[in-house]
Amino acid sequence: MTLDGRLLARARERLAQRKEENTALRDRREAEVYAAAPEIRRTDAALRALLGEVLDFTARGTGTAEALECVREESERLCAEKARALQAHGYPADYLDEIVMCPLCHDSGYREDGTICTCLRKLYEEERAKELSGLLRAGEESFADFRLDYYTGEARECMELTLAAARAYAEHFGPESGNLLLQGGTGLGKTFLSGCIARTVSAGGRSVVYETAQEAFAAFEEQKFSRDAETYAAASEKVKRIASCDLLILDDLGTELTTSFTQSALYNIINSRLTAHRKTVISTNLTDEELAARYLPQIISRLNGEYETLLFLGEDIRAIRKQQRYN
Ligand SMILES: Nc1ncnc2c1ncn2[C@@H]1O[C@H](COP(=O)(O)OP(=O)(O)OP(=O)(O)O)[C@@H](O)[C@H]1O
Ligand SMILES: [Mg+2]
Ligand SMILES: [Zn+2]
Repeated sequence: MTLDGRLLARARERLAQRKEENTALRDRREAEVYAAAPEIRRTDAALRALLGEVLDFTARGTGTAEALECVREESERLCAEKARALQAHGYPADYLDEIVMCPLCHDSGYREDGTICTCLRKLYEEERAKELSGLLRAGEESFADFRLDYYTGEARECMELTLAAARAYAEHFGPESGNLLLQGGTGLGKTFLSGCIARTVSAGGRSVVYETAQEAFAAFEEQKFSRDAETYAAASEKVKRIASCDLLILDDLGTELTTSFTQSALYNIINSRLTAHRKTVISTNLTDEELAARYLPQIISRLNGEYETLLFLGEDIRAIRKQQRYN
């Protein structure tokens, strides 16, 4: 299972920020205590001096066992004195200790053996969920909420199969999975079902990228033609994620203004992902004939040969809902 480097960086950033906040909080506590109890400041100074002595011993190699033992005893005495003083002033004994949220990794995010700690993992999962819901706008689609009663007759039968296939695909997503082409008219639930797939696959720990075809092609264009470094960097990053994620969901294919540039970008996406055994779900309003008329034969051949089509039939659900609102 690969972690998305960008999301991991964000998660680590959040961990570092919390750590910083905790350090700042501890510093404020210290200032407050020193003001209220100057003797504690003196105890702290004595403790620091002791630590300096130990470092000195070590640096010069003059630390005899007795000397170290003596220092240890003195430091214990001072710590106990400090704790007593804190309590005498109404503070908890550990009020000035370093604030550690995760005892497993001391807030570094990594265990001693170098593996990622559960605390950082949790932040990573949060970033992942956040990103996905951001991309999918409204963002709460789930298979359980996919309603079949919007579809009737033949459309209903078709959509039962489509829903079952999409669900099985998402739940058993893995290296052996194929690619999907979600095909059908406007307002029939393609984006909705894409969202369900994205969320389920992502919850299974795979990296999922959702982009509309227009956004994806725009990133390719910016990467190629942008003149400023920032736009270029952002676009390159996006292109890289489009190429390397475990599952790419390319929504609304066919709504872009098709040019030779977008043709080659699309070919590039489809072909390189096939070669790398990475999975892609494409959704489109276009029929087979319209696809064939618009895209390069090399693209069509790959869609026909390597993608399983899930058909969407029925009446535009946006229109159905609108009607229901007026009734
Ligand atoms: N099966 C469903 N159950 C509940 N809500 C649905 C269902 N299908 C679609 N919707 C809702 O209907 C609206 C249109 O659906 P969606 O955006 O998925 O259509 P689409 O097929 O992607 O259309 P387009 O081709 O125009 O992009 C959305 O608000 C969506 O949440
Ligand atoms: Mg859509
Ligand atoms: Zn931890």
